[in-house]
Amino acid sequence: MSMLEVKDLSIHFGGVKAVQNVTFNIDSGIVYSVIGPNGAGKTTLFNLITGVYKPTTGEIKLDGEAIHGKSPNQLAERGVARTFQNLQICMNMSAVENVMVGAHLRLDRNLVKAALRFPGLKKRDRDLRDEAAQLMDFVGLGQYVETRADAMSYGALKRLEIARALAMKPRLIFLDEPAAGLNPKETIEVDHLVRKIADSGVTVVLVEHDMKMVMNLSDRILVLDYGKKLAEGTGEEIRKNPDVIAAYLGAHA
Ligand SMILES: Nc1ncnc2c1ncn2[C@@H]1O[C@H](COP(=O)(O)OP(=O)(O)O)[C@@H](O)[C@H]1O
Ligand SMILES: [Mg+2]
Repeated sequence: MSMLEVKDLSIHFGGVKAVQNVTFNIDSGIVYSVIGPNGAGKTTLFNLITGVYKPTTGEIKLDGEAIHGKSPNQLAERGVARTFQNLQICMNMSAVENVMVGAHLRLDRNLVKAALRFPGLKKRDRDLRDEAAQLMDFVGLGQYVETRADAMSYGALKRLEIARALAMKPRLIFLDEPAAGLNPKETIEVDHLVRKIADSGVTVVLVEHDMKMVMNLSDRILVLDYGKKLAEGTGEEIRKNPDVIAAYLGAHA
């Protein structure tokens, strides 16, 4: 049984069929990428699986159990975390506090609130901060722990979002364009970070336009086009697929 099973998944917004009868499985422990032109339905697919949208039709199963219709919080409790294509960071909080927010989905909310208001007051609060600081180290932001988010570069904030998602202690993480807007050096750093996350045992689902990164990291790739599944397979299979070349890769060559 695959970790995630998606069957005949569709969502329609009025007349827009953003995702149409998409079926695929993701095995535990792999890096799985979703690619396709802008508007293909990649973010919508993430929103469906992470509980932001309810599907018009179809099934989503995590470890064999139906999860469609569950809220993002319920899914976080089951080990599903995500980042957003558009940054969702609290700019007036410190970096470490942003990461601590990620923990609130798996812990007592009052505990997190108290820890944010009275830093270092109790041992448990300190533990929460220490854990968040360790995650910042893990994503390469160790020197920014106490920095206010609005004083950090865009590239650093992209990684801060990943640290916050990791604070949910996920088994399955969805990264929506983690390298978008980054320079080549930062992109390579994110590439390495995604590899590190996968090596730590977290199953990664990635949406990314940087084809070098996608081909380098992915065990399998799903190609969406106009909301439909165009192809699915290994990087090698996708690279050679005539439909994919015609619809997508060709345009980038
Ligand atoms: N909440 C929504 N309401 C109406 N249309 C939407 C909504 N979300 C996405 N769409 C439409 O669904 C299609 C797929 O969008 P999206 O999933 O963001 O594509 P991608 O992430 O692949 O660029 C687009 O035509 C978009 O306008
Ligand atoms: Mg998108």
